[in-house]
Parts: sequence; structure tokens; C-alpha cells
Amino acid sequence: MFRVLLALLLPCAVLSRPVNDFQTPFTFEQPASLPVSNPTKSFWLDTPGANLLANEGSTGPLTEDADVCIIGSGMTGVSAAFHLAQAVKTINSKDSSLHLKAVVLEAREFCSGATGRNGGHLTPHSFFNYRSLERQWGKSEVIKSLELENRTTMAMVKIIEEYNLTDTVDLVSGGHLSLIGSTQEYASLTADYHAARQAGLDVGDVEWFSEAEVDSIYGASYPAVRFSAFNFWPSKFVTQLYLLANSSTPHFSLDLHTHTPVISIAPLPSSRWSLGTLRGSVHCTHVVHATNAYASHLLSQFSGRKGIIPTRGQMITLRSGTAINDSWRASWGGLDHHWFPRPLNGSDAGSPNNRPLVVLGGGREIGGPTNEQFQTDDSVLNAAVGEDLHAFLPNTFPRMFEEGEMPEMEWTGIMGYTETTDPFVGPVINDPPSNSDLNSQSGQYIAAGYNGHGMPRAYSCAEAVAGMVMAAVQGKAWTVPEWFPTHYLTRNRR
Ligand SMILES: Cc1cc2nc3c(=O)[nH]c(=O)nc-3n(C[C@H](O)[C@H](O)[C@H](O)COP(=O)(O)OP(=O)(O)OC[C@H]3O[C@@H](n4cnc5c(N)ncnc54)[C@H](O)[C@@H]3O)c2cc1C
Ligand SMILES: *[C@@H]1O[C@H](CO)[C@@H](O)[C@H](O)[C@H]1NC(C)=O
Ligand SMILES: *[C@@H]1O[C@H](CO)[C@@H](O)[C@H](O)[C@H]1NC(C)=O
Ligand SMILES: *[C@@H]1O[C@H](CO)[C@@H](O)[C@H](O)[C@H]1NC(C)=O
Ligand SMILES: *[C@@H]1O[C@H](CO)[C@@H](O)[C@H](O)[C@H]1NC(C)=O
Ligand SMILES: *[C@@H]1O[C@H](CO)[C@@H](O)[C@H](O)[C@H]1NC(C)=O
Repeated sequence: MFRVLLALLLPCAVLSRPVNDFQTPFTFEQPASLPVSNPTKSFWLDTPGANLLANEGSTGPLTEDADVCIIGSGMTGVSAAFHLAQAVKTINSKDSSLHLKAVVLEAREFCSGATGRNGGHLTPHSFFNYRSLERQWGKSEVIKSLELENRTTMAMVKIIEEYNLTDTVDLVSGGHLSLIGSTQEYASLTADYHAARQAGLDVGDVEWFSEAEVDSIYGASYPAVRFSAFNFWPSKFVTQLYLLANSSTPHFSLDLHTHTPVISIAPLPSSRWSLGTLRGSVHCTHVVHATNAYASHLLSQFSGRKGIIPTRGQMITLRSGTAINDSWRASWGGLDHHWFPRPLNGSDAGSPNNRPLVVLGGGREIGGPTNEQFQTDDSVLNAAVGEDLHAFLPNTFPRMFEEGEMPEMEWTGIMGYTETTDPFVGPVINDPPSNSDLNSQSGQYIAAGYNGHGMPRAYSCAEAVAGMVMAAVQGKAWTVPEWFPTHYLTRNRR
């Protein structure tokens, strides 16, 4: 049914107003807007020279036909392309000559959604929220979902190391330190930790610090817990992953069209799809929705609280007032914020006396009555959240940051939240479902809704979707990989 709706309603609804005219928050059940055309400038994308593929394929002829259309060029879309390329390579190494053509369609600059506007943390959780996740999904599922975060992180780090990209993407393996704001939170975290261990999860190296220890070593008056994690330059990683996908094998061809929003999807005869853009249409057999917060624009069944809730987050970069203490070279979280110092030799170096640039986000809870939910406009800043961000580091680390120091950059980005905090992964299911949906034959797939925690999940969720597409390409049934949590699957979520 949604196919008809999309074909009939969407093009006129979208074309009848300018693309960036979405200043008013929409009501809860309304689909998301397209990404606005004039977003705030983010450190990751707008540092000169950072976004190599920014405007790739934005002019010239549009690809007319492909096997797979991927909508969105963030971590999810590009990981899907990368895993399709890997799959084609593997299949052909077993004496076959499959050829696959994919195209990535991106509304704005390359990677300019959440992946290019985020906090830069690659923080796999191994016990956080363990008990509530277990109550909701049961032990074996929660173990899979937490192990997926470790699996994703290790796979991404392996690619970075294998292709000598550590400096290119500024990978820092400094661990993650989480400040603990209250005794209740301390009790809850330690209970999650013990429950996870009892369930047999390998929680890795975890170290607990008292308030006095944190104060003397790090300069903040809170207890903390430290575990292994990374930070990096997400859009540079995605750029490199795109280039790897593009050069994997001559049997996989990949096109990229930036500044090309998909505004409609209509069925064609013989189970194919026509994707409408302002530059013409692209025909394809399989469609991957990697549109995250914006998913409901093309798939209205993801509107509202039970779908994917676009949620605006805000970030700043702030210079520290003092030289960095080596022990501070970690990623940090807690107190409703997340931050880390950029490497001193990174492309933003050059500050006097080794004062690092700190990337900080959070404070959404004070952003107004809806906590910045149902907002898709990342062309504006929230003033209240900004005030909170400007004051946070001087308040928390009074010996390291100067009060009143203004940020070097400040920007927003749109995350995709879900009711259960789990992403939706799998064939797109109509509302109500049809038989072909339940047989996974719809030809459209989605991986989206990472609740502000996509770096340790999106890469693997897209890998699962690429597996579904490859199964369909080969006319085989898709079987759930043993590492994949089945409660992420679209068929188990409605
Ligand atoms: C401020 C902020 C801070 C965050 N911090 C962290 C963090 O530190 N660690 C972490 O793990 N996660 C963090 N996240 C979340 C993380 O960035 C996301 O989970 C992740 O980037 C999602 O990747 P994605 O590819 O699915 O979505 P996106 O990167 O948002 O990509 C979706 C793409 O689709 C494009 N698009 C949408 N609709 C259309 C259309 N109709 N046609 C064509 N293109 C379209 C968009 O322009 C966009 O480029 C943060 C997010 C934000 C916003
Ligand atoms: C992932 O798990 C392995 C094995 O349990 C462990 O050695 C490693 O430290 C974990 N990695 C992260 C980033 O947690
Ligand atoms: C890795 O990259 C660095 C530059 O970033 C270069 O100097 C070095 O030679 C590279 N090493 C290999 C093995 O490619
Ligand atoms: C800096 O780090 C060292 C450990 O590396 C620690 O002993 C020292 O107290 C720290 N100094 C601060 C917070 O000023
Ligand atoms: C992708 O690969 C093709 C074929 O090798 C090449 O012509 C093209 O320049 C590559 N694209 C990018 C962005 O590097
Ligand atoms: C930057 O410094 C880090 C450690 O501080 C090091 O691992 C990395 O190799 C350095 N990069 C360059 C380009 O020198």
C-alpha cells in the first residue's frame, strides 16, 4: 500500500515547497523532512581538505540503472557498498563471474548526515544497560547485541590497521572513561557490570576509580569507570571505506551522486524500482535505505514514536586552557555529555603549548520540551544547549579549561532514535505487512535508528543487509548470521 502512497503523494508533497523550508517542528506522526540544504558547519566535514568526496558525482549524467541503489552516504550506506564489494569478490573467487553495479545517492555533501556531524566516539558497550536489555530481549539476545559492538569495533580497527589508515583517520585507542554522576548511577552501573559478567559476557578490561582518584589523576570530582574504546575521524573512515569498496574488484562497480536527494520510490514492472530525483530517475532491483533519521521521509511507516525519531544533537570544539596530561588522552562520557581531546599532531594542531582541541557534545536534555526530538533542521543551533556545552568543561575540569572560552566551531546533526534503543535492520515491511514482505522479497531494505550510538553498530548492521541483498541476487534464502541479534530484524519489531 505504501508503494502507491509514495508514488502518488510524495513527489508533489516534496516538490511543492523549497527543500530547506522545514523550520517548524513537525507533529509526531508526520514523516521526516529531507535533510535541509544548508546545514551548520561541522569540524569533521568543514575542516579544509577533510571531505575528499564532498561533491562527487553532483554534476554530469546521473546513473540510470543499477542492481543496487543505496540511499545515504553515511557509515551505513558506505558499509553496505563495501560489504557488497567484498561479497562479489568472495563469490567470484569460487569460480563464478557475477557482476554487480551499485549506486550511492546522497542528498547533500558526501557523508553529511550524522556520521559527518557526530562525536567521533567508537565506544563498544560491553555491560552498559545490561539488565534492562536482558529484561526486554532475554539473555542470549542481549549478549549478541553487546558482542556485536565489540565485533564491529574490532572489524573497523582491523581495516584501519590493514590499510595503514591510522593517521589518515586519526584513530586513537585511548579507552573510554565514564564519569559517574550520582551514587544511584554508580550502583546501577556496577549492578549491570556484575550481571553481564554473570551472564558470561567478556566485558574486557574494566577499571573503577574513586572520586579522589579521578580528581588527582584527571582533575574532575566524580568517580569513574574506564574500559577499552577508540575515537577517530568518522567521515574520513567512511571516505576510505568508499574508496576501498570502489577498488575492491572489477566485478563490482560503484557510482556516487552527491547533492541528489531521492524524493520518491515507485514500483516498475518486473519487481524493480524507480527512484525519483530532481536530476532524473534511477532504476534498480534492490534498494537499501541508509537514511537513518530521515528514513520516514520515503517510508512513512517509520513515522512517529514507534518508528525512527529524528533527534537533534549539538557539538562544539573547545581549546583546553592548559597542556594536555597524557592520562587525559582518552574518550570521555557521563553527566549527559561526551568529549575527547583531538590528537595533538592532528590536522587541527598548531595550538600554543600543546593545548588540544576538545570535541564535546550532549546537553540535549535541557534543549526544550521535547529534548530536541522530532527535529530535522541541522541548519540551526539550540541556544540553551549551546550555553550548557560552553560551560560544561570549565565546570567539570576547572583546572584545565578557562571559563568563558568560546568554541572554535559549533554545529548540529540529526540522530535516529527508536522506542527500544535498537536499530531496525532488514527488509522494509509495509503497514500492514503483505506476504511478499514476510518472505523478505520486497526488494527494499533498511538499517537505521542507532540512538546516537551508531559507530559500534552501523557497520555490522549494514553488513547484515548486504548479506540479504546478496542472497536475493543469488536467488538464495537469507539465514541470520550467528552473530546477529534477531531482535534488530524488522520482522520481529512490529
Ligand atoms: C551530534 C551527534 C553526535 C553523535 N555522536 C556519536 C558518537 O560519538 N558515537 C557514536 O557511536 N554515534 C554518535 N552519533 C550517532 C552516529 O553518528 C549515527 O548513529 C551514525 O552516524 C548513523 O549512520 P548512518 O549512515 O545510518 O546515518 P547518517 O550518517 O545520518 O547518513 C544518512 C545519510 O542519508 C542521507 N539522506 C537522507 N535522506 C535522503 C534521501 N531521501 N535521499 C538521499 N540521501 C538521503 C543524509 O543526507 C545522510 O548523509 C552521533 C550523532 C549526532 C547527530
Ligand atoms: C573485544 O573483545 C576481545 C575479546 O574478548 C577483547 O580482547 C577486546 O579488548 C575487545 N575490544 C574492545 C574494544 O572492547
Ligand atoms: C603508512 O602510511 C604512512 C603515512 O601515513 C607512510 O609513511 C608509510 O610508509 C605507510 N606504510 C605502509 C606499510 O604502507
Ligand atoms: C597527570 O598524569 C599523571 C599520570 O600520568 C598523574 O599522576 C598526575 O597526577 C596528572 N596530573 C594532573 C591531573 O594534573
Ligand atoms: C572508482 O573507481 C573507478 C574505476 O576504477 C574510477 O574511475 C573512479 O575514479 C573511482 N572513484 C573514486 C571516487 O575514486
Ligand atoms: C600522532 O601521535 C600519536 C600518539 O600521540 C601517534 O600514535 C601517531 O602516529 C602520530 N601521528 C603522526 C602523523 O605523527
